[in-house]
Amino acid sequence: KTGAFTFDPGFMSTAACKSSITYIDGDKGELMYRGYPIEQLAVNCDYLETCYLLKHGELPSKAQYDDFTKTVREHTMVHEQLTRLYQGFRRDAHPMAILVGMVGSLSAYYQDSLDISNPEHRTIAAMRLIAKMPTITAMAYKYTIGEPFMYPRNDLDYSSNFLHMMFATPCEKYEPNPVLARALDRILILHADHEQNASTSTVRLSGSSGANPFACIAAGIACLWGPAHGGANEACLVMLDDIMKQGGVEKIGEFIAQVKDKNSSVKLMGFGHRVYKNYDPRAKLMRETCHEVLNELGLQDDPMFKLAMALEKIALEDEYFVSRKLYPNVDFYSGIVQKAMGIPVSLFTGIFAMARTIGWIAQWNEMIGDPEQKIGRPRQLYTGAPRRDVKPMAFR
Ligand code: SDX
Repeated sequence: KTGAFTFDPGFMSTAACKSSITYIDGDKGELMYRGYPIEQLAVNCDYLETCYLLKHGELPSKAQYDDFTKTVREHTMVHEQLTRLYQGFRRDAHPMAILVGMVGSLSAYYQDSLDISNPEHRTIAAMRLIAKMPTITAMAYKYTIGEPFMYPRNDLDYSSNFLHMMFATPCEKYEPNPVLARALDRILILHADHEQNASTSTVRLSGSSGANPFACIAAGIACLWGPAHGGANEACLVMLDDIMKQGGVEKIGEFIAQVKDKNSSVKLMGFGHRVYKNYDPRAKLMRETCHEVLNELGLQDDPMFKLAMALEKIALEDEYFVSRKLYPNVDFYSGIVQKAMGIPVSLFTGIFAMARTIGWIAQWNEMIGDPEQKIGRPRQLYTGAPRRDVKPMAFR
């Protein structure tokens, strides 16, 4: 028994770790950060408030929020030398490849404060990562389109600042649309943490050896990139695009037949989940956000959105999906929202990484701060050859 929840021993035997940060009930479709339901956080808080909650375990008072956001603002710029590191990448490099490299390189710029046994250093690293991820991500985008980097504007809130660094140029005034900024902030909240998913487990495992936080977060970014994980929102848009090219809604039947075909590896990207065997609560909120953004931009008749709604309807009614409990997950609508906002598909997972940075940091901190924690060392089920002796090559 751990306070409010009772785990059956069987569950604990498969649990990777104990954590007090995020709770998911996959069957009920419930998600809570530090005990607060995601539905309430997404409506009543902003992303930095959620960062404070995940990092400190409590929602901030006004004074604590002001202090936290002030510290973030003081660290939004990156070391000027780091801006030159982008030159080493090809212009057509995938932004996730750039993010893995750039975040890992932060270890080289801030090595004077990387003693992870020092809680001070852990806090400095955490605040630097929260503050710099939008700058590094926007710079990755600007670099790939050959536009000059835009410096952070500390008079803007976190999400507006990111949109400004993404879409402003030195040639003309650009003021971020507050509706889009609020939508982005909600996307960040919904992606902020998610218990022991693959990338968080990667961060924990690499952190358990004592590696520095920047290197651990870079490892998490690498894992998130995969299409079965964070790369699903990009893969979902590619899937919708392909169906549109083949004829759109009229072609859904053929596509669904491919998905159902036992011999085909085609999956309905943005559907299914390792844990949620009910509707992903984030997908519901993402769907609302999608409607808001499309209405704001006059895109409510967007054919891709209509296609997505048609796919969702089939998945919620068709026996193949219903029997396998394949509901839309967070990635299904997040791609459509971001595409409508003008964010390139290749950057969707980068924004997921930006959002998840606080979750990775909170989980890494919890692990490092646990006096009983040891280096992770998963075992295996050996299925190889039995013991045998080496024969000299002449006899092989
Ligand atoms: C994220 O872990 C997290 O918390 C992750 C995440 C986070 O916030 O960190 O929530 C973010 O990664 C969300 C998931 C994004 N991925 C996708 O949308 C990719 C598409 N989804 C699938 O790859 C799949 O659903 C998984 C990997 C997400 C989950 O797979 P499971 O739960 O292991 O399911 P399974 O592989 O055991 O499949 C069960 C059955 C199989 O069919 P049968 O063998 O029973 O005939 O369902 C089928 C699968 O083939 N199936 C799908 C499907 N997902 C599973 N069939 C069609 N389309 C799909 N998407």
